[in-house]
Amino acid sequence: MKFMCSFCNVFVYDEEPGDPNTDLRPGTRWEEIPITWQCPVCGMPKTYLQQVSDEAFSFVSKPYLENKEENWNLTYYRNRAREKLTNFCGVYPVCDGQPGRICIGQKYGASIGMGGAGQGKTFEANYNALQEYKFKTRVIKEHHEPEMSISLFGEEISAPVMGASLSGVKNSMNNIIPEDEFYMGLLKGAQNFGSIGMVGSTTTSPDDLGVNVVGENKGWGIPIFKPQSQKRLIQLFQQAEKLDVIAVGVDLDGAASAFWTETEGVVYRKGEKDLQELVDSTDKPVIFKGIMSTEDAAKVIDSGASACYVSNHGGRVLDSAQGVAEVLPDIAMEISGKIPILADGAVRTGYDVLKIRALGADVALIGRTLAQVCLTGKEVAVKMYLDYVKEDLRRAMLLTGCNTLEDADMDILIRA
Ligand SMILES: Cc1cc2nc3c(=O)[nH]c(=O)nc-3n(C[C@H](O)[C@H](O)[C@H](O)COP(=O)(O)O)c2cc1C
Repeated sequence: MKFMCSFCNVFVYDEEPGDPNTDLRPGTRWEEIPITWQCPVCGMPKTYLQQVSDEAFSFVSKPYLENKEENWNLTYYRNRAREKLTNFCGVYPVCDGQPGRICIGQKYGASIGMGGAGQGKTFEANYNALQEYKFKTRVIKEHHEPEMSISLFGEEISAPVMGASLSGVKNSMNNIIPEDEFYMGLLKGAQNFGSIGMVGSTTTSPDDLGVNVVGENKGWGIPIFKPQSQKRLIQLFQQAEKLDVIAVGVDLDGAASAFWTETEGVVYRKGEKDLQELVDSTDKPVIFKGIMSTEDAAKVIDSGASACYVSNHGGRVLDSAQGVAEVLPDIAMEISGKIPILADGAVRTGYDVLKIRALGADVALIGRTLAQVCLTGKEVAVKMYLDYVKEDLRRAMLLTGCNTLEDADMDILIRA
C-alpha cells in the first residue's frame, strides 16, 4: 500500500521498497512502522500517513522520489534540501508562505527557521501581492531578442536579478553546512551566472565573516551588515573597503532582530544623521535595506546612499506589514531615476523578476529558494537556479512585447 504524509503533503511512503532514509526495510507495512518514526520532511508521526490510491501516488510521488535518480538538476538539489531541512522547510513546489506550510506559524520565541515573524502574514503578503499582478500578453511585434543585462555600481550584470543577503545556517537552516561555505556558494553561484551575490550576518558567527568571505571571493559580492553601533559599522565598512567589495549595505529593518537583541543587544534603529555618517565614512557604494515607505525612501536619497533596497526581510521581522509589491510602485514614483532600486520578497521565477521590474525596481533579489539549493548544491545549484530564472525572464519579455528592460512598465501588468 502507498501513503502520503497529510501534514506536509510532500513525503510519500510505499510499503514495497520501504524507506531506507528512515530505516524502513522493503515490505514494512504501515502497522509495523514504529510509533517513534517521524516523517523525514516535517517530523510528524506515522499517524499522519494517509493511504493514497496507486493513481494518486504516481502523481504525487514523482517530485519526491526523483532525487533517487541523482541526476544533479535543480529538482535533485531541491529534493536533497527537503530531506535535510526536515521540520524547517518543506521546499514546496511554490514557496509562498501560505498558512499550513511547515515553516509558517508562531514559534513562541524559538527560531523562526525559514518562515516569517509572528503568524507569517507578511511573508504571505509578499507572495499574494506579487501574484495579484498578471501579465498582458502581447505577441504581435517584430522579433527582437530581449536585452536583459544592466549596469549596477559600475559592473555589468547579465540579468536584473541577484542573490539576497542570507545568513543563519545554524539557527534557521538545520545547521546543514558551515556558514562560510553557504556564503561562498551564494557569492560564486551568482558570479558564475554573471551577477552579484550578497551575504548577511548572524550572531552564531563573527560579524565580519560575511565580509571576509566576500574578500576571499576577490571582492565580488556585497556584505549586508546588521544595524550595529555606528562605531562598529564604520569599522566593518573600512574592512570591506580594504577587501575591495563591490558595495556595502545595512539592513535597517534588522533593528529589532530577535537573535541579535537576545544574544548581544547590539542592534539599533538608525536616524538620518546616522545614515549620512555611514555614507560619508566610505568610498564604496552604500545600500540601505528594509525600506517599505516613501518617507524612508526619501531619507535614503537625502543620505547620499547609492541604492535603496525595498524589502521587508521576507516577512521575517515585522508581522502584518504590507507586501513589497504593494509599496514598490509608490516608492518608485518617489525616487526612480535618482538611485537604483533593489527589491525582494517572494521573487521565485523570471516572471516575478519582470513584474518587480515593471513595478519600478531595477533589480530583483531572491532569498529563500536560492538558500534551499545553495545548502545542497552550493555554487553549482545557485548558478543553475539563476539560469532557470533568466530563461523564464526571457520568455516573459518575449510574450509581453518587451525588447528591453525599459519596456517593462506598469503597462505590461494588470492588477487582478
Ligand atoms: C533564512 C534567512 C536568513 C536571512 N538572513 C538575512 C541576513 O542575515 N541579512 C539580511 O539583510 N537579510 C536576511 N534575510 C532576508 C533576505 O535578504 C531577503 O530580504 C528575503 O529572504 C527575501 O524574501 P524571500 O525569501 O521570500 O525571497 C534572510 C532571509 C532568510 C529566509
